[in-house]
Amino acid sequence: MATPFILLLLLAGISPSLAQSCLSDTFSGNQIYTSCSTLPYLNATIHWSYHPDNATIDIAYRAPIPSNGWVAWALNPTGQGMIGAQSLIAFSGSDGALLVYSTAISSYTPDIKDGNLSFTVYSKSGELFNETMTIFATLELPGNSTTVNQVWQAGPLSNGVPAQHATTGDNIKSAGSIDFLS
Ligand SMILES: *[C@@H]1O[C@H](CO)[C@@H](O)[C@H](O)[C@H]1NC(C)=O
Ligand SMILES: *[C@@H]1O[C@H](CO)[C@@H](O)[C@H](O)[C@H]1NC(C)=O
Ligand SMILES: *[C@@H]1O[C@H](CO)[C@@H](O)[C@H](O)[C@H]1NC(C)=O
Ligand SMILES: *[C@@H]1O[C@H](CO)[C@@H](O)[C@H](O)[C@H]1NC(C)=O
Ligand SMILES: *[C@@H]1O[C@H](CO)[C@@H](O)[C@H](O)[C@H]1NC(C)=O
Repeated sequence: MATPFILLLLLAGISPSLAQSCLSDTFSGNQIYTSCSTLPYLNATIHWSYHPDNATIDIAYRAPIPSNGWVAWALNPTGQGMIGAQSLIAFSGSDGALLVYSTAISSYTPDIKDGNLSFTVYSKSGELFNETMTIFATLELPGNSTTVNQVWQAGPLSNGVPAQHATTGDNIKSAGSIDFLS
């Protein structure tokens, strides 16, 4: 009986990658995104829906959050790494409330405050479940340009505010470009 054997091999080969794939992610309220990408570092996924009519994107960024830490996802319309990153950063505040800040990074020792980005943020929120953070946001897609550099990160809190992430290993590789039409 060759068929069951081949089927088993296929299942054995496929299921580990399916388990890690962004395709298996689900969202509260049965929110559906048209596309997703499993990011190569920090066990993160990014889901999005692009609306060409108004040049906006709805995104959901999901990643494990370090205990007493933060996660962030950013578009960088003007560069490739941290400098210029228009970031969404999520963490638990000292009173336990979940905070999602939008913050434009202009130095390697940024003052992390909730502020304006170089493009409009129509909404942002976060959800923490099982030590995994999901950042939801609706953004103006800068210049309606569908290929943009992205950066994502995770790090610790210090005195209740986001502090520097690791500067070795996967934390310095977690950048690339995203094609919102793919
Ligand atoms: C990513 O997942 C792997 C396998 O579960 C784990 O060993 C690793 O610590 C995780 N990394 C992060 C940054 O969560
Ligand atoms: C953009 O357009 C889509 C439909 O194409 C709509 O669902 C969405 O609410 C609009 N977003 C904003 C921020 O106006
Ligand atoms: C955004 O670009 C698409 C083509 O890529 C175009 O169809 C759409 O009209 C543009 N939207 C805006 C608001 O300029
Ligand atoms: C953020 O943008 C809004 C609307 O453009 C403006 O009223 C506000 O002053 C800006 N805030 C900062 C901190 O620049
Ligand atoms: C919680 O996270 C762990 C590790 O990522 C995973 O194995 C487990 O299935 C998750 N539990 C739920 C209820 O999602």
